[in-house]
This record gives sequence, structure tokens and C-alpha cells, in this order.
Amino acid sequence: MDLYEYQARDLFEKYGVPVLAGIVADTPEEVKAAAEKLGGVVVVKAQVKTGGRGKAGGVKVAKNPDEAYEAAKAILGLDIKGHIVKRVMVAAGARIAREFYFSVLLDRSNRSYLSLASVEGGMEIEQLAVEKPEALARVEVNPLEGITLDKALEIAQAGGFEPGLAEKVADVFVKLFEVYKGEDATLVEVNPLVQTEEGDIIALDGKVTLDDNASEVRHPEHEELADKATENPLEAKAKESGLNYVKLDGQVGIIGNGAGLVMSTLDVVAYAGENHGGVKPANFLDIGGGANAQVMASGLDVILNDEQVKSVFVNVFGGITSCVAVAEGIVKALEILGDAATKPLVVRLDGNQVDEGRAILAAANHPLVTLAATMDEGADKAAELANA
Ligand SMILES: Nc1ncnc2c1ncn2[C@@H]1O[C@H](COP(=O)(O)OP(=O)(O)OP(=O)(O)O)[C@@H](O)[C@H]1O
Ligand SMILES: [Mg+2]
Repeated sequence: MDLYEYQARDLFEKYGVPVLAGIVADTPEEVKAAAEKLGGVVVVKAQVKTGGRGKAGGVKVAKNPDEAYEAAKAILGLDIKGHIVKRVMVAAGARIAREFYFSVLLDRSNRSYLSLASVEGGMEIEQLAVEKPEALARVEVNPLEGITLDKALEIAQAGGFEPGLAEKVADVFVKLFEVYKGEDATLVEVNPLVQTEEGDIIALDGKVTLDDNASEVRHPEHEELADKATENPLEAKAKESGLNYVKLDGQVGIIGNGAGLVMSTLDVVAYAGENHGGVKPANFLDIGGGANAQVMASGLDVILNDEQVKSVFVNVFGGITSCVAVAEGIVKALEILGDAATKPLVVRLDGNQVDEGRAILAAANHPLVTLAATMDEGADKAAELANA
């Protein structure tokens, strides 16, 4: 889960990372009140989960509450790379002397953590990486050791921070790593980290990505950071039912058990779709091991509610769960859904008690259900029905 800047700011504050006062607001009136409360120069900043807000006109300096009101009117409702601004943060204005860059992230390909730092921050980091790669230090961070003060100094020196300044920013790097570790993040990025005219080091912007796998078990409090409104409603519904669902762009809904089987089903459906007008998988839905009637009903309910779905391919391999339970699950699910089930269903069962399972579906003789003997045959039939 990506956090908004104001949420990152709050986490930074909790870990002692130096930040400026900030107040979130949803209307120009609230922005004006916030500016009055903060006093002096403020910066009105769009809260959207995408980069390049400044360039898009989403970050504006305001010298007084009236200017803040006008800035809010310009920023609220703005479309930044497809994200509509609904909320801004009114931040105290800093007198910036210099801008730096720092991040620490999960480096999957090296099974390690990586820290990036540069004394030349402020501009987009992708641009710096291309135009002046030597100015951007890349320092591996051993996950077992983390960013100690020594490591932080090494990162600062590699990033070109001069003696005196390096010690100051190193303290902040250590705290930012504490955020990364303490919150089970996969990314903590500060661009810009600034030095003010007064000589203070302050994190002026923050991007944090939390590891959802850790959130569920170790950080139940992260739930509150989730942005229910912008989540895909079908994904939210699937999550509530404990289903592993990802919405895709095609027309064939897919239900399978086990991530491996579902992924290969995506492949065979996409392949079969080439012979049927180029139809593609509409989603990824893994019902996991215990495919009982209720789980099957929840899964079908999610998929059938996707308007893009024209047909559904249920591809289940009975292992611990027998095909009898799955077949009964499908029959009961169709009963539960009743008239809500309107799209053709192709079912391929194999494995444990396959003959009994197929017999149950054959006996039910539901008008929407077609049985397929193999995965390829099922994919082809589902693609054909989606294209009909
Ligand atoms: N509180 C502040 N006081 C003074 N100047 C600020 C403040 N916040 C931001 N700025 C200035 O605005 C610039 C852009 O701000 P920020 O980094 O938050 O947005 P951005 O980089 O455009 O957005 P993104 O990080 O999404 O790409 C900063 O580099 C800094 O110069
Ligand atoms: Mg920034």
C-alpha cells in the first residue's frame, strides 16, 4: 500500500524524523483556516498517490491565508496523471538553502535492501539517474544490520555530502530506516530532504510504501491508512471475503484454486483468445484450498458483477478438496446467486474424485454450465463464449 504524503509525514514524526507542521484540508475554506493557524508562509500541496505534483501545478506557495485559499481553489479538483485531487496538505513554509535526496527500498533482485542518496536532490530522481548517475550513490544495506550510524555516514559520504553536513543527514537517515523497519515498509523516500537557511535538516516530502503481507499480521493499525474510496469496489469486496482477486482488462472471468494454476489458466485463456477475436482474461481469482459453496458463491459473485466479464472459466484441480465439494459448491453457488447469475460458465474439474464431481454437475444440468474435459478445451470454450 502506497501512503499519501501527509500519512508519511505523520509516520516520520512518530519516529523522530524532522518534519514541518502540516494540516490536511478538503475545501478552500479549510485551507484558509489551516493557513491562519500555521501563520506565515505556507505551501499548499496536492495529496495524490503519484509523482510530479509540483510540475503539474499541485504544489503552490502562499504568503497569506487569502493566497492559500486561491491556491486551494486551483489545486482541488486538478487532474494529476489521472488522479483527481480531493485533499491537500497545508504545510508550514521552509526557507530552503539546499535540497537533497534519500531513499531506502527493498531490492528484490539482490534479496537485500538498497539505499540511494544524493547531495544533488530536488529534481526528479529518474532524471538525475540518467543525466548524472555518478551523483546518485547506491549503497547496499544488509537487512540484518540495517542502517546504523556508521552505515548512514557511509551512505552520506557516497552521496557526496561534505564533512559536517554528512553527520547531520546521517542522523536523519538512521531515523528514516527506523520508519522503514518499524513499519515493515518496502520503500521510504524523501525528495527533497532539505537544509534550511537556519541550518536544520528537514524531510519536506515523503513517499512510503508498506508491505501489505506484513500489515495484515504485524500492523493491524495500517488498516486505517487504507483508502477505501479509491480502491476498486470489486477488489474491496473480494478482500472482505478473503479471496485473492486482481482485476484485469479482458472478458473471460477466471476462478481457480492455487496461484500457480490460476496463472497458467491466464496463459491458456489468453492463448485461446487469439482464435476468438482476441478476448483476454478479465481477472485473477484464486479461491485457495477450501473451495466450499460459500467461497465459490463469493468468487462468482465478484466476477459476475464485473461488467466487462462475458464468460467465466472455473478451473479447479481437486487435491485435499475433492471435486465433489467443488461441484456441490458450484451448484449451490448458482442456487444462492439465482437470477444474478447470467453469464455462461465453463467448468473443468480434475484430480481427487473427479468422476463423482463431474457427475454432480452433469446431473444438475444447469443451463449456464458447460463441462470441459481438459484445461485447453475449457479455455477455448470460455473464449468462444466471451466472443459470441
Ligand atoms: N513546506 C515547504 N516549504 C517550502 N518549499 C516547499 C515545501 N514543500 C515543498 N516545497 C518545494 O516544492 C518542491 C516540490 O515539492 P514536493 O517534493 O513535495 O513535490 P513534488 O516533488 O513535485 O512531488 P512528487 O514528490 O510527488 O514528485 C520541493 O522541491 C520544494 O522546493
Ligand atoms: Mg518530491
